[in-house]
Amino acid sequence: MRKGEKGILAVIAVLSVVLAGTKIWQDGNAKNDGEDRGIPFYSTADSRLKAAGSDLYHRLKCRECHALWGSRDMTANVPAPALDGIGSLKDEKWLYEYFSAQDPQAVVPSRLKKAYRMPSYAHLSEQERQTLAAYVASLKVQDWYLEETRKAEYEKLTGKPYPGSR
Ligand code: HEC
Repeated sequence: MRKGEKGILAVIAVLSVVLAGTKIWQDGNAKNDGEDRGIPFYSTADSRLKAAGSDLYHRLKCRECHALWGSRDMTANVPAPALDGIGSLKDEKWLYEYFSAQDPQAVVPSRLKKAYRMPSYAHLSEQERQTLAAYVASLKVQDWYLEETRKAEYEKLTGKPYPGSR
């Protein structure tokens, strides 16, 4: 065997070991429970509701205070609960009544100063409140992340650690 050939064989040998190692490492990770399950949030809205709902969402500036899909306005820093997965905690009827309430703090008490509290959307048309409620209700979370979502909501609403956390 010539010197050059030996070098090439050595390179192939090293590459095989690295590739096999990577494969074992990936398989190990895939089995690692709780880590590699992806993003738990999804929406059940059809494209029409998604378009109408996110249009209202932007027009009404919900994102000045709430996070959704990991995004929010960075100019305001209001500790409101994230809306990802909120449709698994509250149903459409509850949301419709909440958005229609003249005094939302009578429904969900606030620990924040007035400027940061959830505004009333009672002035919107019935159609708009229905669309908003249906859209927000469509923001679901996978079962395996439900408890985490509930915990995050509780901590944002109360400013206290979740009593159910283990
Ligand atoms: C000025 C900030 C602000 C804006 C704007 C705002 N919210 Fe809120 N929202 C809050 C806060 C803070 C809470 C928690 C209750 C409280 O402190 O009044 C809340 C609560 C909620 C809740 C109940 C959450 C729960 O876990 O019970 C929902 C749903 C919600 N908001 C949706 C919306 C939607 C949809 C919009 C836009 C139409 C919106 N909010 C606009 C601040 C805001």
